[in-house]
Amino acid sequence: MSNIILWDGLPVAFIPGESISDALRRHGLLAAAPIFCGIGQCQNCLVLIAGRGVREACLSKCEPGLKVASLKGKAAAALRQSEAEGDHHVA
Ligand code: FES
Repeated sequence: MSNIILWDGLPVAFIPGESISDALRRHGLLAAAPIFCGIGQCQNCLVLIAGRGVREACLSKCEPGLKVASLKGKAAAALRQSEAEGDHHVA
């Protein structure tokens, strides 16, 4: 798997070493909040990461094939189902 994460079911390319929030913002997929600390303090970047639960995207590094979802809607429900089945990464 190349340097791709799955965000709400969509493939998103990342630069090695990049945080999930940086990758999402670079692609215009994570809106900047009025307070967006980037250091794990504000909680404005919380996402659901397969196999890890709810985490700060600014502190979480991208990994090839990692499944990540916003906290609301069908994508989060699908990821929670995938987690229940023990499937944390894209094949
Ligand atoms: S941006 Fe503030 S916790 Fe991630």
